[in-house]
Amino acid sequence: MDSIIETERLYLKEFTITDAQLLINLNSDEEVTRYTGDGPVKNIEEAQKILSDIIFPQYKNKMGRWAVYLKSNNEFIGWCGIKYISEAGEYDLGYRFFKSKWGKGYATESAKAVMEYATNSLKLKNIIGRAAKENIASINVLKKLGMIYLRDELCAHDPAEVYILK
Ligand SMILES: CC(C)(COP(=O)(O)OP(=O)(O)OC[C@H]1O[C@@H](n2cnc3c(N)ncnc32)[C@H](O)[C@@H]1OP(=O)(O)O)[C@@H](O)C(=O)NCCC(=O)NCCS
Repeated sequence: MDSIIETERLYLKEFTITDAQLLINLNSDEEVTRYTGDGPVKNIEEAQKILSDIIFPQYKNKMGRWAVYLKSNNEFIGWCGIKYISEAGEYDLGYRFFKSKWGKGYATESAKAVMEYATNSLKLKNIIGRAAKENIASINVLKKLGMIYLRDELCAHDPAEVYILK
């Protein structure tokens, strides 16, 4: 499948069922899942179920968590994208990368492109992002996207902040 979004250094495309191992690898680092509310993915079957039950249904609305790759060497580095949370009626921006890829601006670069696509092509409004208060890197990303503080809430039992792009 072709990429959906390209940036200077990255391309984003839909996960496929053969990508199950990538989810296992990404979630295997407890620092990566420290603030995310989930944890390790046990096996291929569980990863395939996450893909088919949680990730793929979002794709029919041209959104969802997209796999992020480096253009330079086609390496998978994590995911980024918008998920519609029907219970809350909210469009939720999320991102997650391997620790070896943190601090290089990839979250900001991919999320900026995702937000532009969502507002310009999908015409979405009021996209939110939530992050644990201690997850300074994630809160920084939200602020760098021009999102503004909306409210406090609990996220996986951690005090968290919600930001919104109006
Ligand atoms: C949160 C996460 C996606 C950030 O990814 P990233 O690619 O490192 O982010 P960026 O490089 O775009 O950095 C964004 C800003 O935060 C700053 N930053 C990065 N790590 C930081 C840290 N540990 N402490 C303080 N600031 C930090 C960066 O300096 C940058 O700001 P600047 O451009 O003004 O310098 C990454 O840490 C991650 O995958 N964490 C695990 C999963 C997760 O927590 N996801 C979010 C759940 S809400």
